[in-house]
Amino acid sequence: MISRITIDQVFDTARVEEVIGDFVQLKKSGSNFKGLSPFTDERTPSFMVSPVKQIWKDFSSGKGGNVVAFLMEHEHFSYPEAIRYLAKKYGIEIEETEQTDEEKEKASERESLYLVSEFAKDYFYHTLLHSEQGKAIGKTYFKERGFTDETIERFALGYSPDEWSAFTEHALKNSYQLSYLEKTGLTIVKGEKQFDRFKGRVMFPILSMSGRVLGFGGRILTNDKKAAKYLNSPESDIYHKSKVLYGIYHAKQTIAKEDNCYLVEGYTDVIQMYQRGIKNVVSSSGTALTPEQIRLINRLTKNVTLLFDGDAAGLRASLRGVDLILEQGMNVKICTFPEGEDPDTFAKGNSLEEVTLYLEENAQDFINFKASLLAREAANDPIKKAETIRDMVTSISKIPDVIKQEVYIKECGRIMDISEEVLFSTLAQMLEKEKRDAYKKAKQEVPQPMEVVSEPKATLEKVDVQYELERKIIELLLLYGHIEEDFEDLILEATEDGSINFKPEKVKSKVFEKVYLDLQEDEIEFANDSFKELYFDIINTLNQQQEIKMESFVNELPPKSAEAVTHILMDDEKYQLAAWDRKEIYVKLKEYSISQMVMETILNLRRHFVNMKINELANTISEKEEVERRDVMQDVQDYNTLRMVLSEKLRRVV
Ligand code: CTP
Ligand code: MN
Repeated sequence: MISRITIDQVFDTARVEEVIGDFVQLKKSGSNFKGLSPFTDERTPSFMVSPVKQIWKDFSSGKGGNVVAFLMEHEHFSYPEAIRYLAKKYGIEIEETEQTDEEKEKASERESLYLVSEFAKDYFYHTLLHSEQGKAIGKTYFKERGFTDETIERFALGYSPDEWSAFTEHALKNSYQLSYLEKTGLTIVKGEKQFDRFKGRVMFPILSMSGRVLGFGGRILTNDKKAAKYLNSPESDIYHKSKVLYGIYHAKQTIAKEDNCYLVEGYTDVIQMYQRGIKNVVSSSGTALTPEQIRLINRLTKNVTLLFDGDAAGLRASLRGVDLILEQGMNVKICTFPEGEDPDTFAKGNSLEEVTLYLEENAQDFINFKASLLAREAANDPIKKAETIRDMVTSISKIPDVIKQEVYIKECGRIMDISEEVLFSTLAQMLEKEKRDAYKKAKQEVPQPMEVVSEPKATLEKVDVQYELERKIIELLLLYGHIEEDFEDLILEATEDGSINFKPEKVKSKVFEKVYLDLQEDEIEFANDSFKELYFDIINTLNQQQEIKMESFVNELPPKSAEAVTHILMDDEKYQLAAWDRKEIYVKLKEYSISQMVMETILNLRRHFVNMKINELANTISEKEEVERRDVMQDVQDYNTLRMVLSEKLRRVV
């Protein structure tokens, strides 16, 4: 471990503008530097570095942070890797803290597994290129598949000789310990005897995000029906198949740059697509997609396109991956290939332009994809149609962002020709059932006294939306808190026939007063502690001074709040950026929409809050006595009405 002292020294010494300057051409712009975003292809600079604040922000991708965050984003370093990089750049000697013997042993064992895997990769590659058998069998096979020498080198493809223990003996001769060969699964040990696991197979090394060899896939070349076509490394301390994606090391830069990731089914799909020039492609290699694998992609982009074979029998099963991706707040598209083709054959048989065009024209949003699936299979079967609609709403219910949920519900209603009301109530039922199930499950799993601590998984996932909304409120207060604006409010009126009517009413108010009063109405509390603290600080300051003097305000805040504030303030500089080209237009636009922005944010936060309340209540229903239950149901209904009102108001604002 790197010592605290070294880390502090690195932070004291490193200059964010110097470090970033090694990767991005920066030009001075006022007190900041600006440059072209290294994360997207852009022609007008939207990347800013502040030497004063020692932070950076990329307005085209929304990324930002300190110097270490830049190295982690751009170079995909881990935290310690970034610190080591900076220490080296600035000539700082790294002091390591003492590890316990157990830690040392564990670390050195893992290191040994990495080393023996690296050695094996080199051996298989060398064997493919230089041994008679490797050339005649392995190389010929790859050539037949259309792989170039360059591709073979880039993916370090290899060949394991068709002999019982050629690799194992070679490794032992080079002083690699048998126990490590066994733990990585490269060697199978049976009593006194040792066998090469991958005997007679062509080899695909599986690399980590940072390019270390974790394990292998080996493809058999004979048509033996009994032997598995692919054999993979067994689980080990370094290889966990649910946490790796084949191709991620080669694809990461392009995934970030293109802001999209293609997900295919197999090793050869990845390689063939890459060779054709589509480099943002990875594969889960035969296993069902896992949340950990999706998280790997999520670090690089929010957009995933699933590519399926034309005649995929397991298409429905693969579609489960869609919900997992949506759950992580990501966008998902699906593209299938013509009958009998998969990404491998399609990329092999078509030019880059053709493949790119095909993907562009055939990738469909998950909702449209599910609809077209139905159209193909059973357009006139009402039962199938109902099933499909349920299936769509299930997917929509996984999306954490309530606004996106609403957009998709509308889309679903439109293409399936069914009323939105029905869809919304189905969605609400599903969400409530999910909460109840999660709650029941948590209750079963956790011993009674712990009950308060256990929180259903579903509520945890929703926190992100709340975070964004709370952050937005703080931003609006910091930037426009003291400004007086016209706000349109809708007053509820009951008409003579008993229906409810909205009457618009204009009210003049300072932004901070509007926010404070509206949030107080629902007794909304911020979930994020530093935002909560900030919120009251800002409201108090505005109440006393009518304006916030930014420098002195920031200096008096605790470090965590100060950091949050600098991020938010840095975000505001994007308007400066835009103003480089068309100054007046943007400034005007910004002033014009303050009241809208404020209303939109408040309403969204209130609606989010109401949703949480409804779910909380729904959770308690099952334990209540019959008499009480009716009261709770009434509460739920009241909140539902409020939600409807809030939604209506939102519709008018946006
Ligand atoms: N797979 C596996 N074990 C098997 C079969 C498949 O691990 N017995 C994994 C491999 O990662 C493979 C992926 O599932 O790449 C997809 O399987 P499949 O479509 O059968 O293989 P392809 O990649 O198309 O291989 P090839 O084109 O060489 O037949
Ligand atoms: Mn194939």
